[in-house]
Amino acid sequence: MNPQVTVEEVPVGVVLPLRSAVLRDGGPADLPGDDDPATVHLAARTADGRVAGVVRLSPAPCPWRDAGAPWQLRAMATDDAVRGTGTGRALVTAGLALVGARGGDLVWCNARVTAAGFYERMGFTVVTDPFDVPPIGRHVGMVTGLR
Ligand SMILES: CC(C)(COP(=O)(O)OP(=O)(O)OC[C@H]1O[C@@H](n2cnc3c(N)ncnc32)[C@H](O)[C@@H]1OP(=O)(O)O)[C@@H](O)C(=O)NCCC(=O)NCCS
Repeated sequence: MNPQVTVEEVPVGVVLPLRSAVLRDGGPADLPGDDDPATVHLAARTADGRVAGVVRLSPAPCPWRDAGAPWQLRAMATDDAVRGTGTGRALVTAGLALVGARGGDLVWCNARVTAAGFYERMGFTVVTDPFDVPPIGRHVGMVTGLR
């Protein structure tokens, strides 16, 4: 866990600016299901309150594995000013703990191939061949079990 950030559950409006800047080149960044009551948005804040990283978790069927209570991780992004300092790890660690506490037993994601190594560090496993998600690029399916 990065001691320089605090991870907290936040309204979607808090995560959208960084999500847009990092993942959508400044464009619209809202996603279907953002406002669903079960959807969780997490923000990692620096000591001065700045949002340095964001992620979304929501219950969703896993395309590749049977699970009783699967959740999807989406829209993971950290500010490039803090990359490599543990902010992404703090978000995923908090997210997996939160999903487990809410009864989830598996978390899956469509990972950009450029980020697959990060998710592997977080305990995820690649379970698909690479596939295209236009216009973003190559992705792989990844999963991690929670129990
Ligand atoms: C991928 C991303 C979220 C990682 O965030 P981060 O804050 O740099 O991650 P951390 O500093 O917590 O890194 C945790 C570990 O993963 C490693 N890591 C980070 N990014 C990595 C990458 N792209 N590939 C391989 N390893 C990576 C770190 O070196 C660190 O390793 P350690 O276990 O030795 O400490 C961030 O680079 C990002 O926002 N990238 C652009 C958007 C993106 O691709 N999002 C994912 C969409 S699927």
